[in-house]
Amino acid sequence: MYALKIVFFVTFLHALRGEINKNVNKNEIQAQKHKLHYHFETYDYTTLPFTHAESPVWDGDNNVLYWVDVLNQNVYALNYTSKQHRLKHIGKGEVNIVLPIEGSKRLLLGVQAFVYLLDWDEPNPTDLKFIAALDQGSPNNILNEGKADVRGRFWAGTKGPQHGDVVLEDHAALYSLEQPMFEPRVQLKPVSISNGIAWSLNNSVLFYIDSATRTIDAFDFDAAKGRISKRRTILDIGEYNFMKTAPAPIPDGMTIDRDGFLWVALMFGGAIIRIDPEARRVVEKYKLPVTRTTSVTWAGHSLEELIVTTSRRNMDANELKREPLSGAIFILHKLGTGGVRTHKLKFNDSDIY
Ligand SMILES: *[C@@H]1O[C@H](CO)[C@@H](O)[C@H](O)[C@H]1NC(C)=O
Ligand SMILES: *[C@@H]1O[C@H](CO)[C@@H](O)[C@H](O)[C@H]1NC(C)=O
Ligand SMILES: *[C@@H]1O[C@H](CO)[C@@H](O)[C@H](O)[C@H]1NC(C)=O
Repeated sequence: MYALKIVFFVTFLHALRGEINKNVNKNEIQAQKHKLHYHFETYDYTTLPFTHAESPVWDGDNNVLYWVDVLNQNVYALNYTSKQHRLKHIGKGEVNIVLPIEGSKRLLLGVQAFVYLLDWDEPNPTDLKFIAALDQGSPNNILNEGKADVRGRFWAGTKGPQHGDVVLEDHAALYSLEQPMFEPRVQLKPVSISNGIAWSLNNSVLFYIDSATRTIDAFDFDAAKGRISKRRTILDIGEYNFMKTAPAPIPDGMTIDRDGFLWVALMFGGAIIRIDPEARRVVEKYKLPVTRTTSVTWAGHSLEELIVTTSRRNMDANELKREPLSGAIFILHKLGTGGVRTHKLKFNDSDIY
């Protein structure tokens, strides 16, 4: 089974490395079939459908793109230098987060509501090293999204128990954790579905998404103290009537570009939007041939590829027939901007922990 998948993935790697024309034709066919208009010039996609791809993150020191397939409990690493990809099956419940650590061969993982260290070279995945437990007393909560801030702290948001596409409201929180103890510090509570996290280029603002609110919010961010304050809404996607999907679109993963604009994946909306946070409006929108877009990150040597993860979770056979690329990873090129280096977790003792 995996051998077959790897063959598909290698096909994607070839596409990634130059056979773009072939993909453009493929895209045109897809576009006609789905009667969609693509605003971007070219894109590639994996022919390997994940069930629920999430947490894409670029490690610019090692030229590796990481992501997870949440329900299959796998972590993926795509080495842009060797064009090889590796996967690690975890097998301890939903895997929602992977995050590189400064100067370390290990990775931080979010599994269920726990934070662990993963060492790729350890043969036994149960050898994960425990760091912290979040939302104790709420065993059905899930650590949903996490990023490192400019000081290398881990910002981690949870979501409440989920049944189908519905998540119990106000049962979760946003935390920060920092070395050496990684004691979870509550930053915001309650939240429903803690999602997109991004910092302004000058690190004085934290942009944040609790998907259930359908808003993109901002806080003043005190980098020295690691505290947030003065929450305000900068965009309410409910006010944009651009999609009439059911369920209604909610904002999910988020990243920032080098011009200071936000890129947000619209789950159930099948699109990526670019937001001007000063003018508080959507300035660009990119429609994809799938409905369940989960997250975004910048990757590649010049950070000009926008990686978009998608999902096929909870889709029935008819929906999958209409949207066969659900679960694929899309790579958008030539967007006229690019990313900035994202921060890694700081954990001095991670290799000997
Ligand atoms: C990526 O591949 C290159 C070339 O094979 C190799 O030298 C490098 O160590 C790999 N990087 C990682 C992080 O595995
Ligand atoms: C981690 O290492 C840096 C650089 O050596 C040092 O300044 C810092 O105090 C260390 N932090 C901890 C928590 O050990
Ligand atoms: C930092 O960036 C934010 C968001 O772009 C902006 O609103 C703020 O004025 C900037 N702060 C400083 C001190 O430049």
